[in-house]
Amino acid sequence: MSDDGDPEFHHLPVMVHEIGELFGGVPSGFVLDATLGGGGHAEHLLERWPHLSILGIDRDERALAAAQQRLARFGTRLQVFHTRFDGLDIAMEALHIDALSGALFDLGVSSHQLDVAERGFSYRNDAPLDMRMDQTQPWSAADVVNGYPAEQLAKVLQQYGDERFARRIANAIVAARPIERTSQLAEVVVSAIPAAARRTGGHPAKRTFQAIRIEVNAELDALPTALQSAIDHTRPGGRLAVLSYHSGEDRIVKDVFRTNETGGCECPPELPCVCDAVQTVRLVRGVRRTPTDAEQQGNRRAASARLRVVERIEDSPTKGRR
Ligand SMILES: C[S@@+](CC[C@H](N)C(=O)[O-])C[C@H]1O[C@@H](n2cnc3c(N)ncnc32)[C@H](O)[C@@H]1O
Repeated sequence: MSDDGDPEFHHLPVMVHEIGELFGGVPSGFVLDATLGGGGHAEHLLERWPHLSILGIDRDERALAAAQQRLARFGTRLQVFHTRFDGLDIAMEALHIDALSGALFDLGVSSHQLDVAERGFSYRNDAPLDMRMDQTQPWSAADVVNGYPAEQLAKVLQQYGDERFARRIANAIVAARPIERTSQLAEVVVSAIPAAARRTGGHPAKRTFQAIRIEVNAELDALPTALQSAIDHTRPGGRLAVLSYHSGEDRIVKDVFRTNETGGCECPPELPCVCDAVQTVRLVRGVRRTPTDAEQQGNRRAASARLRVVERIEDSPTKGRR
């Protein structure tokens, strides 16, 4: 894999070989990379499969620019579009792409976004509270941290961070307002957590920062629509692979894939389907769900990754609920 492109853009693509393997047999044409990031997965697919091109989407313009630079040698085999991934229809129409040969979603934040201090994503670097993936978006982490009532903040921390001490942290944040910098937020979180709990489970502010980032970027909101749209646009034989890093994301992926596999059929499993449900995908079995131990040791982002894969089929009546 080449090191060309923006030298400041560091992101190790997760399960890149397993993902590359999945797309060898798909029909020729465009595979959607819905989270192009630094272009690591895209580069691997373009290098490995000459019959494929990439439609790369990202809501972060800086990521798109870095990926374009890195992948310039592939010419028109890479097309990019700046949008949230639920804007897929608009991207395809603008680029005159009428169908997809597959799709990849590598959800969440890139190492680059975490590592560049001024983006304000990380409790490790002091910076203004920002956390916007799309820097044209008008609201940021500062609005969530300083604007939400305590109950709403606690719900965000609980739901998106699985934070046990959500209520205590939310109260401490409200009491410490205004909070303008990441280091200030990290200190407030640390002081709100009981001393014994601070010594377990990594940095005490990690879950709070993750939760606020998911809220600022409405990360879960766009996912069901985007996945459905990608399935609808994919040709039979095309594949869709999703890497998620949080249980809330993985649940959405599982639900969307299952609804497409069963056609939403609610008929009793022991009886034939009478509800006219239509199956649009089949689960691809025998694929690793998680990175190898070696990959997890070499890349801290890989530790929480979960992969799900389906293959698009011709629309067909379901044979009943599985
Ligand atoms: C984990 S990184 C992808 C890394 C990429 N696979 C690579 O190999 O370099 C996730 C990227 O998805 C983008 N992203 C996250 N949510 C998005 C959304 N809803 N729509 C579009 N882009 C999104 C982020 O800005 C980030 O650049």
